[in-house]
Amino acid sequence: MGLHRDRRATPHGAKIGPPLRGCPWKAAERRRLLARSFHYAAAQHSLSAAFHGQSRSLLLAGADPLPIASQNGAVTAICRAMTEYMTVTSDAPMARNGAIKLYGRDAFEGMHKAGRLAAETLDMLVPHVVPGVTTGELDDLIRNFMVAGGAVPATLGYRGYTHSSCISINHVVCHGIPGERTLKDGDIVNIDVTPLLDGWHGDTSRMFLVGDVPIKARRLVDVTYECLMLGIEQARPGNTMGDVAHAIQRHAEAHRYGVVRDFCGHGVGRLFHDAPEVVHVGRPGTGPELKPGMIFTIEPMINIGKPDVKLLDDGWTAVTRDRSLSAQFEHSIGITEDGCEIFTGSPGGFDKPPY
Ligand code: MF3
Ligand code: CO
Ligand code: CO
Repeated sequence: MGLHRDRRATPHGAKIGPPLRGCPWKAAERRRLLARSFHYAAAQHSLSAAFHGQSRSLLLAGADPLPIASQNGAVTAICRAMTEYMTVTSDAPMARNGAIKLYGRDAFEGMHKAGRLAAETLDMLVPHVVPGVTTGELDDLIRNFMVAGGAVPATLGYRGYTHSSCISINHVVCHGIPGERTLKDGDIVNIDVTPLLDGWHGDTSRMFLVGDVPIKARRLVDVTYECLMLGIEQARPGNTMGDVAHAIQRHAEAHRYGVVRDFCGHGVGRLFHDAPEVVHVGRPGTGPELKPGMIFTIEPMINIGKPDVKLLDDGWTAVTRDRSLSAQFEHSIGITEDGCEIFTGSPGGFDKPPY
């Protein structure tokens, strides 16, 4: 899952913040304002009004730090208020430059192949996800399967990560590190895999139920899958990222669940993590417009309790602060002329439990 989002980012990742009187920013004031979605919305609204409907810019999480604390904060905000798109040809440089890439048909074919291998990897795991297996054993199966399929795990060596998958059990939100931990009856487990095949990243994750799982947990898993699919339903040209986010948030919150803010989906393709940020909460009609050729993941993380997460000392494992159960599903998709294609659907019909 996701890109780790900068806490200062707005729901759509534009590190803009309202150009308030009294720039430079006071950190506390900034935090207070950015902590309230009302203010996000107000900022978005005034900015889009200022630009006659042009979309706002997105910066990648981990990109250069926010230089907003300047005398000309408003100008900085304005400069960032336009989304950049770039049509990608096969000889174009594949840099992470903040622009949203619009890919061609060859890319969609590459993504279908990588996505299929990713989905087959998860299909392969179904009989192995049982009480007593260790997450390290599952990770070995994943690596061997990908290599046999002509791919390498994109996570291996990625930013210092040394495993072939992320395996997140119960209250682990994402980026659980495979190891000695044994699966137990009643666990719910997310397994997230990304083979890199012929230069394309197929990124997908699903929940698995271990043995007998209580109804409360199964309900969370079902609703999380519904959130993903409702988001995908909104993924078509002319809609915005806010439409996708809103569909997810609305469904999750109708069940009184919390939608994780600190991680998001992302552009994918030649690069593992690219622009735009695909957030899972937001307002209809906000955020970048979806255009044919965009390729990205949607990967909502939904908690039975509050949305808040904390990072463990290993620097990777994210858990719910209130230790409530968390679930996630992820697909890689591409926007077409009249909707979208899912690259990571299960060939075996194992898109969601029970398997
Ligand atoms: N597969 C994750 C995602 O959905 C990313 C994992 S990066 C890792 O974006 F380094 F933690 F493996
Ligand atoms: Co992802
Ligand atoms: Co993933």
